[in-house]
Amino acid sequence: MPAVPPPRSRVPDVLVVGGGVVGLTCAWYAARTGAHVTVLDPAPGDGATHAAAGMLAPVGEAEPDDVAATALHLAGAARWPGFARELADASGAEPGFEAAGTLLVGYDAGDRDDLRRVLGTHETAGLRSASLTVADARRLEPALGPVAAAALAPDDHRADPRATHRALTVALATAGARRVRAAATRLVLDGSRVVGAVDDAGHLHRAGLTVLAAGMGSVALTTLHEAPDAPHVPVPVRGVVGQTVRLEAGPDLGLTRTVRGRVQGRPVYVVPRAPRPDGTREVVVGATTEETADVRRPRTGGTFALLRDARALVPALDETTLVDVTQRARPTTPDGRPLVGPSGVPGLWLATGHGRNGVLLAPITGAALAAELTGRSPADAVALAAAAPARFAGRGRSLTLEHDRRTA
Ligand code: GLY
Repeated sequence: MPAVPPPRSRVPDVLVVGGGVVGLTCAWYAARTGAHVTVLDPAPGDGATHAAAGMLAPVGEAEPDDVAATALHLAGAARWPGFARELADASGAEPGFEAAGTLLVGYDAGDRDDLRRVLGTHETAGLRSASLTVADARRLEPALGPVAAAALAPDDHRADPRATHRALTVALATAGARRVRAAATRLVLDGSRVVGAVDDAGHLHRAGLTVLAAGMGSVALTTLHEAPDAPHVPVPVRGVVGQTVRLEAGPDLGLTRTVRGRVQGRPVYVVPRAPRPDGTREVVVGATTEETADVRRPRTGGTFALLRDARALVPALDETTLVDVTQRARPTTPDGRPLVGPSGVPGLWLATGHGRNGVLLAPITGAALAAELTGRSPADAVALAAAAPARFAGRGRSLTLEHDRRTA
């Protein structure tokens, strides 16, 4: 971020469509460049942000076959400590960032073999992880159950997505951003330029730059059958449903690091938060991965499997209380990487499709937008190339872009 924002007159007004953690981070970075910012969302933070556990896991969630995605995730993770500090300063609220590291574990012999294979892929890719004896792992985390294998991913940290969203809301209010509780129904063209969005009350929100950061809300703004004369802006986002379970633990739960593992082949993670002053704390167990319709009522079998597998890794979870089960769809692209950058149509910038990595990649996405607004080249330009929207040119669902009577 520039220390001194450029004069307001040089920065376009920005409309951010979508008020989840990615949208609000974009809005906050834009506001810090001096832009007048409006955020449009009927229920800010109630999408994937509400379910996310907040793992910042470029190593634990690395896809060995996608080197470019791993580089993007590492660059995203590197931005988190500074982002968390600046956000806490600006808002007076903690985003819940904790540089605690993650234990990777395997429950049975098959899971141990799988963990060995994963550690081999880390070594090949130059990612930091270290095999541990189970005794050493239990010395680090006394609450660990009878696992067959363990390793440490020292750079996989965590943040609290709901707390981050609250802090962003405060920081944006302080920065003078406007928030409108309405849904965008379509994006509007004037000539060949996007000039804003119409909301579900029929109001046109004009802006010099419109940022589509609507996550799953992006899908409603797309079509397979665009008008022949309309520009084609591919936004091939589908929902991959996941549920997370929030538990409340008492002071006796001795768990510092996130525990991520496999139990008889099924992936599960246990994310403890720092204790509150009274010693209680939130623990999040996640997550299912279901290619089903975008429904919010969790499937009982999914919840059952998460709790069964989590307690196999951390038996003391039996003593926690159940707070909530949240299910949301992750906005996911065909290659699992987000769409971040210019859309190819003047006036429209994309920040959507973050899939499993919305919290991890929110700061790098916001920083890329700030670079766009100030005419600088993004510091992470090489890593961000993996998220360039142009890679889907000519493929899949396209944004519906229409001329508006009021702008024609
Ligand atoms: N990043 C964790 C998940 O999507 O489940």
